[in-house]
Amino acid sequence: MIWKYIFGRPIETGAVVMGVPEGPQDLPDIPGLKIQEQQEGVKLSCRMESSDVVYGLGEQMRGIDKRGFTYISDALDDAVHTEDRHSLYGGHNFLILGRREQPSFGIFVDDPGRVVFDVGETEMDQMVITAGSDCVVYLVGGESLKDIAKQFRRLIGRSYIPPKWAFGYQQSRWGYLNEEDVREVVQKHHAQGIPLDAVYLDIDYMEDYKDFTVDKERFPDLPGLVKEMKGRGVHLVPIIDAGVKIEEGYPVYEEGVAEGYFCKDEDGKDFVGAVWPGKVHFPDVLNTKAREWFGGKYRGLMEQGIDGFWNDMNEPAIFYSEKNMEKVMDEILSMRGKNLDLHAFFHMKDLLLGLSNNPEDHKSFYHDMDGVRVRHDRVHNIYGYHMTRAAAEAFEKIAPDKRTLLFSRSSYIGMHRYGGIWTGDNKSWWSHLLLSIQQMPALNMCGILYTGCDVGGFGGDTSEDLLLRWLGAALFTPLMRNHAALGTRRQEVYQFGHVDLFRAFIRIRYGLLPYIYSEYMKAVFQDEMYFRPLAFDYPEDVHAPRVEDQVLVGESVMMAPVYTQNATGRYVYLPEGMMLVRMRALGDRVCEVLEKGHHYVDMALDEVVFFVRKGHALPLAVLDDDIRSTADMRDLSYEWIRFGDGPVEYVFYDDDGISREYVPQDRWEHVVI
Ligand code: GLC
Repeated sequence: MIWKYIFGRPIETGAVVMGVPEGPQDLPDIPGLKIQEQQEGVKLSCRMESSDVVYGLGEQMRGIDKRGFTYISDALDDAVHTEDRHSLYGGHNFLILGRREQPSFGIFVDDPGRVVFDVGETEMDQMVITAGSDCVVYLVGGESLKDIAKQFRRLIGRSYIPPKWAFGYQQSRWGYLNEEDVREVVQKHHAQGIPLDAVYLDIDYMEDYKDFTVDKERFPDLPGLVKEMKGRGVHLVPIIDAGVKIEEGYPVYEEGVAEGYFCKDEDGKDFVGAVWPGKVHFPDVLNTKAREWFGGKYRGLMEQGIDGFWNDMNEPAIFYSEKNMEKVMDEILSMRGKNLDLHAFFHMKDLLLGLSNNPEDHKSFYHDMDGVRVRHDRVHNIYGYHMTRAAAEAFEKIAPDKRTLLFSRSSYIGMHRYGGIWTGDNKSWWSHLLLSIQQMPALNMCGILYTGCDVGGFGGDTSEDLLLRWLGAALFTPLMRNHAALGTRRQEVYQFGHVDLFRAFIRIRYGLLPYIYSEYMKAVFQDEMYFRPLAFDYPEDVHAPRVEDQVLVGESVMMAPVYTQNATGRYVYLPEGMMLVRMRALGDRVCEVLEKGHHYVDMALDEVVFFVRKGHALPLAVLDDDIRSTADMRDLSYEWIRFGDGPVEYVFYDDDGISREYVPQDRWEHVVI
């Protein structure tokens, strides 16, 4: 059951695809639930019992249970993801209030501006959601947590499907400067027998950080390189940033200006912000024509053989705006030679720090939403979504028969139909390893299935043990990409002493790929979550809602990775008897049945451990020693990992991995093992 309430004159975000009539007027029978229209906007409040758990909010900080903090949907380019952060890169305004005594329900606030979720921070037992005055609120009922999530997913439409190779291992780094760097990365993985499916091209491949250009000195023959790499099974994936460099003679800039495709300031002039290339204009991707135009620009790279992209800096990130910079400079210069006391000094510091991603800047530029002028702050959270939509809609025309890899940094619910996301600039911190696991089910609830974090950590220097544990934790994550920032310690797995362990882990990932892919596709077609908190599958279990560091993956697996430095094991809670699988290599597997309950499980650094649920099975591909990428995985044979007393059935999805011809559900293979 879905209740829909419209307030004011909402902006169409495209998040919801299913037609739902407004009403019914009476709120569902949820004790303590109130929706009020107030001066500051629409306010939704609800009492929480101590046993209630709040799931969702997509890419946000903190745990699986969101209680005890305030989260703000206000997409932000911020590379310091500490516990006190209220916003990351997206706006994922869906949560489920999981209740023990009364029916659970979901809330989706469709508002592309700032939305505040005070989930028991101000008052421990009160949830207060404050949106703008123009929004649509959906309340989603269902028989169970799983069912509520499914009803919501039906509302927002089918999730994006990447090519199969995008489930392979991928290597990235800000700072691969030229062809030789790319070749070296591929060669060194392969020389060590480590499979690899993609290498990323960060901003360094461009000419002066200009979108859709290629630096001819550093990449003199991109089509040749793409072809050579594909011959080795490796795809090259370039980055595209939101800001378009202001430079005479640069066609994207010139066309955008001539056609009026950029966002405008108050005076109707093209708004000037600054990002990597210095001053830029932002394409007005909320305008249909501008979106078509910007999307069409991906064609140039695709004609050079590129079949995957990552869209970045699309909150949009603004280092500074031209106008604010002038104001700040004037004020700071006026302080010159003065004796700055506490207040004056910190004011100066704030002025400088406030240059970037300043909310005032968001109020100073406008979109032309097909004839309607809308100030940016009102639609801030759907900018990255529409940049990604621009690309995806263009791919439909440029490469209609094929799947193209696409993911974004900023997103909003609705974008999950066009691409995935990665979780942005995390750090090489153990706490971020845990965070990456906790974010996955929350993202899946919002439809974002193709996702993962920067494995090993983006900022800061990783360590060999952290990277090993992180690969273990990312074993089942659809996007498994090792990415690191410029200036950090080199993080490719061959840089470390125990390369044999890394090889073993990555080969285990490839062995598990048929399961990962099958479960991903089943989740897409059945509107299911690929990653789920334990309570979703064990609703009667009293401990399950309290488990913050274990997740279910697909129908057969539970993960409980190590995320603490120097730990050689961890506590695991089993909501039913499960089979522990301990692997040191593809052919080195030990299984052990454990009873329902609490266990301390040893997990040495050189092994990956996961659990198989009772009555379930999973395929494990038998791989040759020399496979280099998913391209070498044809005509596979499988070993099965199974746990059950009698025969166990597994529903196995597979297809060619590249065409858009998917296998209909009545033809999915039912394997009995
Ligand atoms: C942003 C991205 C990061 C990328 C960097 C340079 O910080 O989040 O992944 O490496 O920009 O393009």
